[in-house]
Amino acid sequence: MDIAKEQMPPKAGIMPKSLPQHILENLNTAVLLVDGNLTLSALNPAGEMLLETGSRQAIGQPLAHLLPRNQALLEAMHQTLVSGHPFTEHGLRLGVPVNRWITVDCTVTPVTRADGFCELILEINPIDRLLRLAREESRHDQHAASRAVIRGLAHEIKNPLGGLRGAAQLLERELPSESLKEYTRIIIHEADRLRNLVDRMVGPNTPLRKQPTNIHQVMDHVRRLIRAEVSRGIRIEHDFDPSIPEFVADAEQLIQAVLNIARNAVQALNGEGTVRFRTRIERQLTIDQKRHRLVVRAEIEDNGPGIPDELRESIFYPMVTGKPDGTGLGLSIAQDIVHQHGGMIEFTSRPQQTLFRIYLPLDAGHGAGVAVPGAVAGKIAKENGNG
Ligand SMILES: Nc1ncnc2c1ncn2[C@@H]1O[C@H](COP(=O)(O)OP(=O)(O)OP(=O)(O)O)[C@@H](O)[C@H]1O
Ligand SMILES: [Mg+2]
Repeated sequence: MDIAKEQMPPKAGIMPKSLPQHILENLNTAVLLVDGNLTLSALNPAGEMLLETGSRQAIGQPLAHLLPRNQALLEAMHQTLVSGHPFTEHGLRLGVPVNRWITVDCTVTPVTRADGFCELILEINPIDRLLRLAREESRHDQHAASRAVIRGLAHEIKNPLGGLRGAAQLLERELPSESLKEYTRIIIHEADRLRNLVDRMVGPNTPLRKQPTNIHQVMDHVRRLIRAEVSRGIRIEHDFDPSIPEFVADAEQLIQAVLNIARNAVQALNGEGTVRFRTRIERQLTIDQKRHRLVVRAEIEDNGPGIPDELRESIFYPMVTGKPDGTGLGLSIAQDIVHQHGGMIEFTSRPQQTLFRIYLPLDAGHGAGVAVPGAVAGKIAKENGNG
């Protein structure tokens, strides 16, 4: 195929104009140019970041050296040089330095130079974070649906339960002997236990009491509570960014959310290990299709065995637990609270490192956050390199 013929002619009246260099330099997409031997001849700064090397070292090297574990991609590029057909791969697993795999969208376009030689342009867009956030979004939706079911069910359980309890109380007064009252006490006790469980399943239903709050107030409170609860074998560490400004939130509720996550961390350690509390600030983050200028990132990390594989997709659902005595409500409640604050929770987990990240917009109290038109769910406006 003659590539030059495929190009669109410039529209009448519009002068063709080359793209200014600074635009290429500021693209978030990695752009690599390779020659007919698949040797790198140019790249932009996003490309340098992807290859984790400077352009001076990288230019002149075969792409097979720079991206050594991507045989299928290199073969497809060889074919493009022969056929002249561009291609796009969505969700491609790309091996990048050093020993990492990332998920990318990748487009390879052949171009013919003035001297007749063919080159290939590679546009590579990492999408791992987007995938993760889209997953979080769909979890959010499923969660909202199961919540609605639970609310309905809770109502249906609590009404007759109240009647049962009242009747048992009346009966207790009429009973002649203490030994018979033992039975009515069991009914009352079990009715109370069931009501508490149902209340916890429904989650906090009081309106948020929002006031100026400092994230360190919240994190430090939980850190102290946890420190008082744990055995000697567990170390509690913290690393707070003191410059994070106050924001409008319900501190009590946030304490509950962080506590639920921190207790899980302690329980996972089984008497030995470290729990770390960390706070950081992130700029220009999009949560639930709203772009926020400043977002708090509060992290709880442990070096326990990690979240069991079979629970990973469902740990935020109510009643999902990996513990013999767990109710499986801690994370579901934490997620509810964080969502009510316009934030989100993410986690990564492998043996020796489980990290929960709570993101809370600093501008949530003012109804701020710019809606992103047509944005991919949870798309990040600007990558901060915080992974
Ligand atoms: N840091 C962690 N490390 C390993 N597994 C975890 C961690 N956090 C959560 N999990 C897993 O996720 C499950 C769900 O947690 P969640 O807090 O929702 O419920 P639970 O702890 O089982 O019960 P509850 O919190 O209601 O007492 C846990 O049972 C556990 O298997
Ligand atoms: Mg828990």
